[in-house]
Parts: sequence; structure tokens; C-alpha cells
Amino acid sequence: MLSYRHLFHAGNFADVFKHALLVRLLAALARKAKPYCYLDTHAGTGRYDLAHAWAQKAREFEHGIARVWQRADVPAALAEYLALVRAGNPDGVLRRYPGSPCIARALLRPGDRMVLAELNRADFAELAEHFAGDRQVQVRRMDGFEALGAFLPPQERRGLVLIDSSFDRAGEFARIAAALAGAYRRWATGVYAVWYPIAAPPAVRRFEREVAETGIRRILQLELTVAPERGADAPPAGRMHGCGMLVVNPPWRLDEEAGPLLDWLRGALAQDGRGASAVRWLVPE
Ligand SMILES: C[S@@+](CC[C@H](N)C(=O)[O-])C[C@H]1O[C@@H](n2cnc3c(N)ncnc32)[C@H](O)[C@@H]1O
Repeated sequence: MLSYRHLFHAGNFADVFKHALLVRLLAALARKAKPYCYLDTHAGTGRYDLAHAWAQKAREFEHGIARVWQRADVPAALAEYLALVRAGNPDGVLRRYPGSPCIARALLRPGDRMVLAELNRADFAELAEHFAGDRQVQVRRMDGFEALGAFLPPQERRGLVLIDSSFDRAGEFARIAAALAGAYRRWATGVYAVWYPIAAPPAVRRFEREVAETGIRRILQLELTVAPERGADAPPAGRMHGCGMLVVNPPWRLDEEAGPLLDWLRGALAQDGRGASAVRWLVPE
């Protein structure tokens, strides 16, 4: 079950999509002075060495962050995320890529805090070592779905939950829909960001139905595909050619801001620019 290691995929198109949106969600929380809590249910190791043999195996980052990190013509909504990546690679050579925990940590204000859950023993050890002694960060080796029950609602009553599963076991879409419903029952005003792969579109459509049937309101759906779904250039069946994010209780105007952002990413990351991006309300107000 825990054979998935994110280092093989670090900095790929899906990470760029996810982390660009993560930065927008955290920036929105920082618009108000009141402290917030960030809960990352599937945290990974926190940051990634792209020179490591695992990252070099398929060099997925070449089709992701490598294509955009030094571009000057980026939309304003991407600037903060790319500045973080550049700050980690000050000599102009792309070697380090920040995971969601390090991105979130960079944006945390002195009164904010974050909780990171990671189940893989080795990944947890690396994560815990990185944040050792950091009083704003709590790192737990535990199931991310159990973390929803253990840490929600946060005492701050404001914050973001990122559910970023590795989707390496059967039934994950249904598990996430049920976990989201449970978390929402505990804390209906939190912001939830749920990342998902697009490999088999019917599975995504079923997931949409399952989430819509939970009764949760205000769910924004964002998607990016980097290859056509059908035709001679389509990837082999079952291979991830896109990904999406459901955002429950999205910040004001994310729907307007995300459209141009994702369209720019599509142009930069899709094969011959032939992917697609979409922003729609899965469930409105
Ligand atoms: C996609 S990676 C996370 C990447 C990270 N969120 C980021 O953006 O940098 C998914 C992680 O979830 C871990 N994992 C898998 N199942 C889990 C579970 N049930 N609870 C917590 N972590 C889990 C995997 O070991 C892996 O490190």
C-alpha cells in the first residue's frame, strides 16, 4: 500500500498545478489578521532533491516545473509560487523542489500553525527531521484520514485542509468522498482542497457524483489536462494525463482568478498546447 514515493514524481505538471493553487489558497487566508491552521493529510517528505536517482528516473519535473520556473511572462497569480521555487534554487540551476509542507511553511505567519500527517515510515522520518524544533509545525506519523478526525475543527476555526492522496490503492476516490463528508460534518466552515488524478475520466465523474451527493455546498472544481484524452496522441489508457482539485469553501474570487492561471499553465505544460483547463462550480452556493 505504501509503495508510492513522491520523489519519483516531484515537480511534475500535477505538482505545479496543485502547488500554484495551494499558494493562492494560503495567500487568501492571510488576507485577514486572524491566525489560521493548515492541515496536510498526505504530506510527503516536505521537499525534494531533483538530482536524486529516483527523481532522475523519469525526470517528470522536466515536463512540469522546469518549463515554468524561470519564465518572465507569468500571470500575477503564479508569481509567489514561482518565487518560492526560485528561492530554493538561488544559483539558477533547478535542483530542489518544495513540497506542500515547505511551501505552506514559507507562507505561515508567526501566529499561524500547521499539522502534517504522513504514513510512510521513511518519508515521515525525513519530514519530522526537517521540521524538528519548529514550534509552528506538528508532524505526525498517522493515516491522513484519521488526522481529519483528530485535528478538526482546529482551535483557530480558520484554515485549510489539503487532501493529497497518492491514489495507490483501490477505492481511493470513494474513501476521499466519505472522508470529506465526515470532515465537513465536524467543521463546515473550513477550506478543503482535494487533489485527484485524471487517468480514467469515468472514475472522476463517479467521484463528482459521490461528492455532490454528500450535500456539501460551495465546491469549486479546477482541472488541467496536458494531453488529449482520445486520438493518436492520447496517452495509454490508465496513464495520468491530467489532474484536478475540488475546493470546498473557496476564497472570494478564486473562481475568477483561477481561469487565466490554469489556462496559462495549460499553454506552458500541455503537449503542443493541446490539453485543457476548466474551472466550474461542481456545487454552487
Ligand atoms: C502525493 S504524495 C504527497 C505530496 C505532498 N502533499 C506535496 O504536495 O508535496 C502522497 C503521500 O501520502 C502518503 N500516504 C499514502 N497513504 C497515506 C495515508 N493513508 N495517510 C497519510 N499519508 C499517506 C504517501 O506516503 C505520500 O508521501
